[in-house]
Amino acid sequence: MLTDNHGRKINYLRLAVTDRCNLRCSYCMPEEGINWLDRKELMSYEEMLVTCSLLVKMGIEKIRITGGEPFVRKDMMPFLEQLSQLQGLKELTLTTNGVLTAPLIPELKRLGIRSINLSLDTLDRNRFFAISFRDEFDAVLETIDTALQHGIELKTNTVVMDGKNTMDIIPMVNLTKDLPISVRFIEEMPFNGGEAHYKHWEWNHVKILNTIKEAYPGIEKIQDAAYSTAYNYHIPGHKGNVGIIAAYTRSFCGTCNRLRITPEGILKTCLYDNGVLNMKQLMRDGLSAEEIEQQLLNKIKSRAANGHEAERNRLNNPVHESMSTIGG
Ligand code: 5AD
Ligand code: SF4
Repeated sequence: MLTDNHGRKINYLRLAVTDRCNLRCSYCMPEEGINWLDRKELMSYEEMLVTCSLLVKMGIEKIRITGGEPFVRKDMMPFLEQLSQLQGLKELTLTTNGVLTAPLIPELKRLGIRSINLSLDTLDRNRFFAISFRDEFDAVLETIDTALQHGIELKTNTVVMDGKNTMDIIPMVNLTKDLPISVRFIEEMPFNGGEAHYKHWEWNHVKILNTIKEAYPGIEKIQDAAYSTAYNYHIPGHKGNVGIIAAYTRSFCGTCNRLRITPEGILKTCLYDNGVLNMKQLMRDGLSAEEIEQQLLNKIKSRAANGHEAERNRLNNPVHESMSTIGG
């Protein structure tokens, strides 16, 4: 079993395969996009496979593919197929914005992908455009339908933004009445690729829950899965669940089981750190698997205790990167 210096089990890798995206969600990047990475700055599929296979040998059991939007990278499906065949990997999953995903669902199912996370910040077509600057709402709805038809478990992620989509909270919760979806609300974080704005966001997890409780006083707390970053709730009689992720408050660090690798191949042992090891460079420098494993272990054994400590360790380097260069 792989554990960090705080005794936390490490068994989950989030691998961001591209920084590019076909939406421009304002909480993630400026409307004009960011300075996209050059192809050769990205880890190649082969480098990602070598990395994943090493980490699975070390104790990683679950891999989530993220981006940017994973499906804007060419040849994603053959890569997913190879990943799905890694010995020792128990769960392969992904986070997508749903724009290109619907037609791929049958193939994802065939690869053994049991659940996907879908970014969905509103159920209103005009607000979808206002938030993402792209008219892709129908394609996303199609992904929801197709996933449900194929028995793929769905979790939606809604970033709650003051003045932009708080009126969508209750309509999103209403989805759980007839659909077996886990609808999750995420506190906004400062990873928007622009000005780091450490303002006090009013819509924290408490305010989100209180808003839901006003409409649904009978809502009940349910048991959270091990390592869950969401506080989970159920409304009696509904098919789905509601989750709230205190991503900015950072109340779940005590059980954090995850590593992240950015599209450039940089290891992050916390979302809020500045990157701790350049995996891509180690491979390109020809280090052996044993040497890379040793360096990984050193970093896993010197993790920050929580996201606040990781953020302090950035020194004069405040958070300003886009979430699309981290993978969420
Ligand atoms: N704050 C909070 N959540 C964010 N995400 C992207 N950017 C931010 C941000 N600034 C979420 C999206 C996506 C997940 C991977 O990260 O909802 O679904
Ligand atoms: Fe883990 Fe860092 Fe997130 Fe906390 S803030 S849960 S330590 S990644």
